[in-house]
Amino acid sequence: MANFRTLDDIDVRGKRVLLRADLNVPVKDGVVTDATRIERLAPTIETLIDKGAKVVVMSHFGRPKGGPDPALSLRVLIVPLETAIGGRKVAFAADCIGEEAERAVAALQPGQVALLENLRFHKGEEANSPDFARALAELGEVYVDDAFSAAHRAHASIEALAHLLPAAAGKLMEAELKALTAALESPARPVLALIGGAKVSTKLDLLRFIIGKVDLLAIGGAMANTLLLAQGKEVGRSLCERDMTDTARQLLALAGERNCRVILPEDAVVASEVAPRVATREVAIDRVPHDAMILDIGTKTVARIGAALDEARTLVWNGPLGAFETAPFDRGTTAVAKLVAQLTRAGKLLSVAGGGDTVAALAAAEVIDELSYVSTAGGAFLEWLEGRELPGVAALSDAARGADK
Ligand code: 3PG
Ligand code: MG
Repeated sequence: MANFRTLDDIDVRGKRVLLRADLNVPVKDGVVTDATRIERLAPTIETLIDKGAKVVVMSHFGRPKGGPDPALSLRVLIVPLETAIGGRKVAFAADCIGEEAERAVAALQPGQVALLENLRFHKGEEANSPDFARALAELGEVYVDDAFSAAHRAHASIEALAHLLPAAAGKLMEAELKALTAALESPARPVLALIGGAKVSTKLDLLRFIIGKVDLLAIGGAMANTLLLAQGKEVGRSLCERDMTDTARQLLALAGERNCRVILPEDAVVASEVAPRVATREVAIDRVPHDAMILDIGTKTVARIGAALDEARTLVWNGPLGAFETAPFDRGTTAVAKLVAQLTRAGKLLSVAGGGDTVAALAAAEVIDELSYVSTAGGAFLEWLEGRELPGVAALSDAARGADK
């Protein structure tokens, strides 16, 4: 695992701690619709408070065009953040650098918390500007990064800043890295990857990397249709990528070479369109009518994946297995999610899942808290599954190496 320091390794008492969080949460009409990221950040803030730090929380929010945008102010997060940390007060600075920020930070007593305005209101953030990073560094004495879900961005508050102050991972970053390491770097075998979603083309790097890492690979969602086509099966009017069949064949060949057993759907739930209350039918995979669409995995496939789950000791899951947003095409994904939860509860499986749609599907199946670890990261989780080095994680290891010298 990447070597990095944690909150246990740094002295923060009475110090100003710059805490890089990912408060990029969904907000509708000024109300946070999913506070998971805020809730998961809370233990880090509370630990820092208990250690007597002055906590300065920084985050980006949305994608402003490099200047202030009132619609993307972090002000809407003050109250949700206060709620998440047991009602403690959170001060706010209307700018993340300069006098405004300095004043808010200077007013903090040990154990108090301030939130800085959206980092992306300054162009220097996304440009990984050394000047902007220095302006941030002036506000603190210690840097803590708890934003795994933004670790794929080489931005100033994530990359450059980590080199300017003593740096450590927060508790959420630590938990994410531990879970992902347990799942892919030194897992209990066999390892099963469950990969779904619409397209092979957007997950090519992921599939290539995963094939070299896991023992079993089960594929669902519309991307399975492209692989079925590559095997000469007809998929009717199903969503698929006909121009990717050669690539799909290469992937299947690669899996053969790497001793990775691929599990494709044996049967499917088909319908004429993706719509609630549409008439559905379950058919064997070589019996898909030419005018029908495959919209979910069938009962036999659920059982087949269930058998693979029984065999596996570790699971990595990204991507829903059917058109899960529209009932009844959520059934396959939900059935598999429940099996995963059951095996995890019984201590037979270490299960790690992530990605926006995957988390939504697991939430709908009401099993989020029953998996070993569900990542709140979308893009960062995917890049991890592609085997890439994440700038935010690399910066923390660089900083740890520097500190050990
Ligand atoms: C996310 O929500 O995935 C992260 O906060 C990164 O946001 P970004 O894609 O706008 O960089
Ligand atoms: Mg670096």
